[in-house]
Amino acid sequence: NQCDIGFIGLGVMGSNLTMNLADHGYRVACFDLDQQKVDAILQKDASERLPDTAPRVEGCSSYTELLSKLKAPHLVILSVPAGDPVDHVCNHLIDAGIQADDIVVDTGNSLWTDSVTREAQYKGKFIFFSTAVSGGEIGARFGPSLMPSGNPYAWTRLEPVLTAIAAKVDPDTGKPIESLTPGKPVTEGEPCATYIGPVGAGHYVKMVHNGIEYADMQLICETYHMMRQGLHMSPAEIATVFRQWNDGKLNSYLMEISAEVLEQLDPETQVPLVDVILDRAGQKGTGLWTAVSALEVGSPAQTITSAVFARSLSSLKDERMAASQVLPGPEATVYSDEQKQSIINKLEQALYCSKICAYAQGFQLMDIAAKEHGWSLDFAEIAKIWRAGCIIRAVFLQSIAHAYEKDENLANLLLDPYFAEQIAKFQADWRGSISEATLAGVPCPAMMSALSYYDSYRTAVLPANLLQGQRDYFGAHTYQRVDKPAGKKYHLNWSDPARPQVAIKK
Ligand code: 6PG
Repeated sequence: NQCDIGFIGLGVMGSNLTMNLADHGYRVACFDLDQQKVDAILQKDASERLPDTAPRVEGCSSYTELLSKLKAPHLVILSVPAGDPVDHVCNHLIDAGIQADDIVVDTGNSLWTDSVTREAQYKGKFIFFSTAVSGGEIGARFGPSLMPSGNPYAWTRLEPVLTAIAAKVDPDTGKPIESLTPGKPVTEGEPCATYIGPVGAGHYVKMVHNGIEYADMQLICETYHMMRQGLHMSPAEIATVFRQWNDGKLNSYLMEISAEVLEQLDPETQVPLVDVILDRAGQKGTGLWTAVSALEVGSPAQTITSAVFARSLSSLKDERMAASQVLPGPEATVYSDEQKQSIINKLEQALYCSKICAYAQGFQLMDIAAKEHGWSLDFAEIAKIWRAGCIIRAVFLQSIAHAYEKDENLANLLLDPYFAEQIAKFQADWRGSISEATLAGVPCPAMMSALSYYDSYRTAVLPANLLQGQRDYFGAHTYQRVDKPAGKKYHLNWSDPARPQVAIKK
């Protein structure tokens, strides 16, 4: 019973999380249904640990053996595909004799409601705890962003482990403190792991992170598209612009990797790789879940939803190819170098303002969902744990954290004085970019939806007055009046409007 932690599922994420735990001094017992993966992690440990030191990782060939190697009470971490495999492993652990005070931590991209169900389902058999992980394989290996939620007692046992392996941030600059050297983990800085709330809350927050990730990626792609198709720039030229932007307020991991992708040549043909990558986007489901949840709780998240739809539309490749032959767009515009530079400058501001809206939507969604589910989410802390380790990491999140630190009841990020001032300053360029893209026939659905979100949010009187009139006309669905007490409902007899409007009880 030597090992501190049992780890099940040694795919890319699982094996990297295991090595991360080992680097922080934890002795890990590992199991995977694929024995080759167990062998691979033992080799990895052998190649990375200091000479003449004991193995940090032990291989197991069954669930029973795994439990037998752990100190009690047992702590088992799972990194298996979301859905049935999680329950499959949980049931095997029950058969192998897991105890009521043992903890099982799910780190997959699970649907948050599944985590809620599982906590109840496994109660009395073991403590089911969920910890959502962001950061891809490098994050898992050298410091991910972690969103733990569930039983508070389990958190007291997990906190030292999760804060150790999480990414770290310089609290003053908000920038990641990184080490990509095996065996030399970062130990100083603020950890990107905070207790989110009751079970499910962490996976919900991770789901929204992914929705924002979809929006952020789509906004960058639309900016690239305008430069490529509208301004006829080469991928290398666009990469240069992205790199410049990455030194400023748009500094982020996604900006950085976008420049790298655009710079990459295809080793086979030596043309820019991006030009030979098929324009059909995949999706595993978390963006869709975010959009569905936004619709369910009635939280406007149109930039996130647009990003999901943009992926759907991209997958209709054959139809788009056929349509491109028959559906006309505008004549191609020829820009002078000066006009081109001016549009590029405007695009930077458009991307920035749109990004603010995408994040505002994500935080608003978490706020509305938290009220619905009785969670008390700390948005400053959530912004802080996204500053490093995760896919949407960006300096920008430091400003979001400040906004919620100043006002924990902030109704919307757009109302924070700093962000309000930023949009006020750059909105003309934002509107200008969208106009240029529209005139050039280059689609920018996420950017447009972000601007519409901003304009709708700042509009005191929306045309929902007419909409209520329409609803009352055809279906007697009633309306309220601005000049009468709130909540009182009225119906007009539309075929005989002279008759008094009927006040209907609430
Ligand atoms: C992360 C990522 C990660 C994964 C997405 C990809 O935070 O580390 O979001 O969870 O890369 O699930 O999602 P799609 O396949 O849907 O783009």
